[in-house]
Amino acid sequence: MLNLGIIGCGNIGRTIIRAIYEGKIDCKVIGVFDANKDGYNALSDEIKRQLKFFDDFDKFIKEDANLILEAASQQAVKEYAVNVLNHDKNLMLMSVGALVDKNLSDEIRRIAKTKNLKIYIPSGAVVGIDGVKAAMLGGIESVTLTTRKNPKGLGVTADNEKILFDGNTNEAVVKFPKNINVAATLSLAGIGFEKTKVKIIANPNVSENIHEIRIKGNFGEILTVARNLPSPDNPKTSYLASLAAMACLKRITSEIEIGT
Ligand SMILES: NC(=O)c1ccc[n+]([C@@H]2O[C@H](COP(=O)([O-])OP(=O)(O)OC[C@H]3O[C@@H](n4cnc5c(N)ncnc54)[C@H](O)[C@@H]3O)[C@@H](O)[C@H]2O)c1
Repeated sequence: MLNLGIIGCGNIGRTIIRAIYEGKIDCKVIGVFDANKDGYNALSDEIKRQLKFFDDFDKFIKEDANLILEAASQQAVKEYAVNVLNHDKNLMLMSVGALVDKNLSDEIRRIAKTKNLKIYIPSGAVVGIDGVKAAMLGGIESVTLTTRKNPKGLGVTADNEKILFDGNTNEAVVKFPKNINVAATLSLAGIGFEKTKVKIIANPNVSENIHEIRIKGNFGEILTVARNLPSPDNPKTSYLASLAAMACLKRITSEIEIGT
């Protein structure tokens, strides 16, 4: 049985908790940890009766979970990821941008390997990660992520389409830290933070968060487009990101694995 602990009871955390209590994923939530109780309070009374809330990480991590899902912030990954693995628990990360920090990334991989634990990184708000992973084994020439968002979602104003950033993932982290999770996931699956190209475009005519991936290699070419609608209770988070985490949990608990 998968016993899940969740760090972060925000939009993604609550969407996953509700799905588990609706029976969509075969696992038990042993508790949720958050620095702020507002997200937990927004859950239904029925769920709250069954779900323990923790504001003390040391107590939370002693509970009987075998997988901890981080759905909080890059800061939370820095604060808790090593601690989670050191308590012999598998880890699933949503705030993937934190792994641009090579020291942290190397450290959690080292602990996971030594302890025979797993670090899961769901595809998140993007499609095509399966193709990137497969293409890597044959050889990839280039990977480009083009993200188009409404200027409001990027904190800028623009009357026409405007390229705000054109560089690689490492540089995007510095200039657009809040828009880095998708680029980080793509970089980890493929040719890395330095070689993965990233374009961030503000377009006043789009309402969705659109992520386009183009991969060229000796297999041919892949082009994927995800036109993401925002989550019902957090316009900054694409609904697909929560669904991808749920699908990742389903894959872990299922007897059959489909896709790479
Ligand atoms: N991988 C992807 O494609 C993808 C897509 C969307 C969002 N995300 C990331 O997932 C994370 C969660 O997203 P969300 O929409 O649920 O956010 P949210 O703001 O709705 O919720 C985050 C919750 O975590 C808590 N939290 C944050 N930092 C904490 C800390 N250091 N210690 C304890 N609690 C902490 C907050 O109090 C909040 O309740 C964010 O980092 C976001 O950038 C990833």
